[in-house]
Amino acid sequence: MDDDLDAMPGGGSAAGGRGFLIAGAVVAVLVVAAIAGRSLMPPGPGGGGGSTEGVVAEGKRLFESRCSSCHGNSGRGDGPIAQGLSGPGPGDLTDDDWKHGDQPDQVIAVIAKGIPGTQMAGWDSAFDEGQIRALAAYMYRLAGREVPEELQREQAE
Ligand code: HEC
Repeated sequence: MDDDLDAMPGGGSAAGGRGFLIAGAVVAVLVVAAIAGRSLMPPGPGGGGGSTEGVVAEGKRLFESRCSSCHGNSGRGDGPIAQGLSGPGPGDLTDDDWKHGDQPDQVIAVIAKGIPGTQMAGWDSAFDEGQIRALAAYMYRLAGREVPEELQREQAE
């Protein structure tokens, strides 16, 4: 049986070696937990690392799947059905002209409730609050503006 012990990696003081390994494992778990706690959804490869980028990336993904038919992937209002809309066209979300207001609560209201008398519908039944905030954050990114602090997290605090 002694032969088996001696054959273990680490050799001589098997107990001491094991204690060291366990301590190392505990530290590793704590580090991983700390990182996971700070950002539950790590941004994809090349996604920066801040929570702002995570929120903006989610907004971009939602925008490109649900909003680009009118607004275009670029946000310039050149989506495939933009031409055929009745009423005002979708405008250009990349310029700094915010027809319906440039404050975060105004942008959230436009996305959640829509704009009466236009083809811009309200999305509050399609998206939850966090998703609407992410979309609003992406509106600032499209316009080349800094994302307001209050939109940089997915949930209001
Ligand atoms: C069916 C076409 C259509 C879709 C889909 C659509 N929009 Fe719009 N959107 C419009 C139109 C048209 C306007 C311009 C209304 C106006 O001029 O008053 C507009 C205006 C806006 C504005 C206001 C821009 C400003 O200058 O104030 C925002 C923000 C916006 N849309 C975001 C979104 C988001 C986010 C989505 C997806 C969740 C979306 N839209 C989906 C048609 C659309």
